[in-house]
Amino acid sequence: MRGIILSGGSATRLRPCTKVTSKQLMPVYNRPMIYYPLNTLIKAGIKEILIIVAPERAGDYLNLLGSGREFGVKFTYEIQDKPRGLAEAFIIGENFIDDDNVAMILGDNIFEDDFSEDIKNFKSGGKVFAKKVPDPERFGVVRFDCNMKAVKIEEKPKEWISDYAITGLYIYDSRVVEAAKQVQPSERGELEITELHNWYLKKGELEVAMVNGEWIDAGTFDSLLRAQNFAKEKMQEKLVI
Ligand code: TTP
Repeated sequence: MRGIILSGGSATRLRPCTKVTSKQLMPVYNRPMIYYPLNTLIKAGIKEILIIVAPERAGDYLNLLGSGREFGVKFTYEIQDKPRGLAEAFIIGENFIDDDNVAMILGDNIFEDDFSEDIKNFKSGGKVFAKKVPDPERFGVVRFDCNMKAVKIEEKPKEWISDYAITGLYIYDSRVVEAAKQVQPSERGELEITELHNWYLKKGELEVAMVNGEWIDAGTFDSLLRAQNFAKEKMQEKLVI
């Protein structure tokens, strides 16, 4: 299993702070934000990690994270020259992924759960993780049938379909690269990761598991503040980096 941290984007919701730095380098209590998703991958035993960044910030990431030796892993860096959407990560990462399975995590997502077993036991297809949230319209949303089997996934639905958001950790087999190449830009001009979930769902090869612990997408000032407090109170003993 290889790992990808997607850490580009424009972070408009955190302006003006993000005019001079990357969102995922901003502090979350006593560490840069990216340490938390990095911790999730490293704790699960992933040794090869691709970090995808925006061109303006590439030097800062290199300065902060270096080769990975300090963390006992190997980092590779790639540039996403424009924020064309989450699914583009798998096109950028094509050579890195090669024939391996891949776990991608978003650089601004903080998870309390330990995903070691999910990552170690993954064989093929796709596996994503859902969490009940009060504001599902901000996310990709999954609807379950009465047996809690996923039947539909929609990106930022205008009409309510369910309270379950798809969180920012996605495990796929290497076919995800070909699937990503088939995705057409959405109305907002992005290659939506929801299309990849649906590509696997249609084949009956998508597993949707639940996130049990806290999950924070730290992309707004309010969620960032929540992340800060959560990191201080609950995350310190769970961090290996
Ligand atoms: P978002 O939070 O959806 O987008 P953003 O970071 O650009 O922020 P805003 O909406 O405030 O402008 O992105 C989720 C994560 O994915 C975040 O870590 C940034 C990253 N990302 C990329 O690296 N490339 C992309 O093309 C997009 C859309 C997001």
